[in-house]
Amino acid sequence: MTFETLIVEIRGAVALVTLNRPQALNALNSVVMRELSEAFKTFDTDPAVRAVVLTGSEKAFAAGADIKEMQHVEFAEAYSSDFLAGWAELPNFRKPLIAAVSGFALGGGCELAMMCDFIIASKTARFGQPEITLGIIPGMGGTQRLVRAIGKAKAMDLCLTGRMMDAEEAERSGLVARVVEPGKLIDEALAAAERIAGLSGPSVLMAKEAVNRAFELTLAEGLRFERRLFQALFATEDQKEGMAAFVEKRPPAFKNR
Ligand code: HXC
Repeated sequence: MTFETLIVEIRGAVALVTLNRPQALNALNSVVMRELSEAFKTFDTDPAVRAVVLTGSEKAFAAGADIKEMQHVEFAEAYSSDFLAGWAELPNFRKPLIAAVSGFALGGGCELAMMCDFIIASKTARFGQPEITLGIIPGMGGTQRLVRAIGKAKAMDLCLTGRMMDAEEAERSGLVARVVEPGKLIDEALAAAERIAGLSGPSVLMAKEAVNRAFELTLAEGLRFERRLFQALFATEDQKEGMAAFVEKRPPAFKNR
């Protein structure tokens, strides 16, 4: 796959996607959005891709939506084209998706990282929703996903002041799953993705689906949904294999059936 703004490398069962607009600190313009959407559609239907890592450069995961591209947009145009709605597709991607964040993850960049299943950050990572300093507000989920990730107090602080939070604060707040030394970021994210890719596909997809349902359902409905998926997994060969392997003290050989 060849793109103008992305580099896609297939490493075994893992696709490594690198945002590649260094001249604009990976600002997210319409080409990035279109190309990411195209890449993820391909991954969704390609059984050889079992997990994805999304990353940027050392200096910036992404410094936000492209301000130069949107500065002259008028309301009528934004409304009738449903400006930014294209980004709503990514959270529907069914396979595991890890964000590996180094440097700036600001505005749309922070929102893009939050659309991923979890974030592994380098110690250099800086997260923020600085839209307020431009006279706008977050438009790709910042006011919604940030609250769910780190709670109202910190989400309000970030959205209202536009200040940045470092990796240590982001991990402490629950935005980030792990913080690693700068040189180890990609290796750590790829290792996590490879580990997931080696597990039983149906259980991985269901675990992702069930965790995501926690944001939409009441506790009682969420628990029921989880239980039904849990029960369904007893219809898979991989459940038989996984449990037999444990009992026989050997590694499982999952068939993804
Ligand atoms: C377009 C951007 C950009 C952006 C950086 N650049 N961020 N271009 N859109 N979001 C460009 C700069 O114009 C500059 O290009 C080059 O990248 C390098 O940036 P510098 O500012 O020179 O780097 P530095 O001094 O290191 O400062 C880094 C920075 C700063 C703190 C990250 O660039 C910054 O504040 N960027 C904007 C962050 C932001 O406000 N993001 C939210 C955007 S709104 P030139 O050609 O001048 O050298 C948003 C809305 C989300 O995301 C909701 C809808 C998607």
